[in-house]
Amino acid sequence: GKRRPIVGGNWKCNPATASSLDELCRNFDGVAPYLEKCDVYVCPSNLHVALVKDNFTPGVHVAPQNCNFKGCGAYTGEMSVDQIQDLGLGWVLIGHSERRGEFGLPTPAESNQLMATKLQYILDQGLNCVFCIGEPLSIRQKGIQAIVPILKALEDKSRVVIAYEPVWAIGTGVAATPEQAQETHKGIRDWIAANVDRATADAIRIQYGGSANAGNAPELSSFPDIDGFLVGGASLKPEISDIVKAIA
Ligand code: G3H
Repeated sequence: GKRRPIVGGNWKCNPATASSLDELCRNFDGVAPYLEKCDVYVCPSNLHVALVKDNFTPGVHVAPQNCNFKGCGAYTGEMSVDQIQDLGLGWVLIGHSERRGEFGLPTPAESNQLMATKLQYILDQGLNCVFCIGEPLSIRQKGIQAIVPILKALEDKSRVVIAYEPVWAIGTGVAATPEQAQETHKGIRDWIAANVDRATADAIRIQYGGSANAGNAPELSSFPDIDGFLVGGASLKPEISDIVKAIA
């Protein structure tokens, strides 16, 4: 394809014990041969980031699962971009649906507007950002709503990666069909072309997330607007390297 593929592993709130971290890190050893052709990042739980950051095969990026948009100070439970950069890390992931409150919370904790503010803050501070979108209903329309406020930020096309995750496909074992994912990714890209420009649309990488695994990655990878994966459950297993292999 015309874009460099990118695969992320999101460990979410796993593992329960720090003693299992080494085993999870070793699952990524198999991606080493593909790093020349594919970007790979891992999102460990925030408590574990500092413990694992130097324990991956060289070239794998560690990206915390969230950060704030204010910096250091009186922000209990938050993490700042300065702290991320001080650990030597260059990436952060924001806006996962599990944080936006799309699993039944009446008021989304992380609104589209707040996420746009956060993205611009992250870019201004010099980090790269994986920006997650994907809602339970009217997926394409709402997905595009999530990117309306980030149009300006998308011009920074090499430092922003969109991760499209239909909520119904996350952790269910039922991935979107390649045709569904392709249609949505193309819709997002065409919308960016219409509202920013074609060069930005052609450059921006869009990952698919939601029950991606070694079995479905090869077919999903063959569709032109699918530039990689954001992998949850399967990123806790050795098969993560097969997923990278499929798209590299
Ligand atoms: O961030 C990852 C996604 O939510 C996908 O999770 O691969 O377990 O469905 P999953």
